[in-house]
Amino acid sequence: MNANSPAANIRYFETPSRLFDEAAQFILSLVKAKPSPEKFSFALSGGSTPRGLYERMTQEDLCSLFPWERIHFFWGDERWVPASDKRSNYRMVRETLLDPAQVPQANIHPIPTSVASPELAAADYEKILKDFFQQKFSFPAFDLILLGLGEDGHTASLFADDPAIQEGKRWVTTALLNTAEPRVTLTLPVMNHGRSILFLVSGEKKKEIFRKILDPKYPTQAFPAQKVHPVSGRVLWFISI
Ligand code: 6PG
Repeated sequence: MNANSPAANIRYFETPSRLFDEAAQFILSLVKAKPSPEKFSFALSGGSTPRGLYERMTQEDLCSLFPWERIHFFWGDERWVPASDKRSNYRMVRETLLDPAQVPQANIHPIPTSVASPELAAADYEKILKDFFQQKFSFPAFDLILLGLGEDGHTASLFADDPAIQEGKRWVTTALLNTAEPRVTLTLPVMNHGRSILFLVSGEKKKEIFRKILDPKYPTQAFPAQKVHPVSGRVLWFISI
């Protein structure tokens, strides 16, 4: 996305809880728009912001409306830590969304972090995705990719000066710079083939970077998050800052 572009779809919310509620309702509408029994593929984001969304999705009034058996969960990125580590995106999603909603195990597709190396994990995850989407050559079209915005403009684990942002062929790669621990991430072309991409941005700390993203003074692709330009899908930004 480029927040400067006319196609940008930005919605502002007065409070994070309004943002989480609207995002949860939006996701429900997307899932329901896909006819049963088709699977709905959902790539999740880590970080602290989406916690509130996941918790909202599992409150009783909404939780009972989601057809959980049709939704398949993937991760946009993961830290190279054991699944039990508190830095693990898998663990966070498990605790806030998957366990409370009692999502069937067969619908949960985490990035493996118990294999020998991040490189192997990236290759394994690419295979998991290729098996799920039943395609090898063209990039997969996730029904929904949830993304966050780092204070430096990164999204998922695509950082400005990391070679991962240049990856144009693979579906999954490693990000080894700029992070406390190695990470495994979906690549930009995978993000750009998503049907819907939803950025969630919340908190004072994001004001500055979001201001820069909107500022025409900056080059239009100065930050990794601005490189998310879906080939035929749409990008929405839900903001509470
Ligand atoms: C992660 C995400 C990362 C995150 C942004 C925003 O696992 O941390 O991949 O891209 O979405 O850093 O994070 P916050 O929501 O914590 O601000």
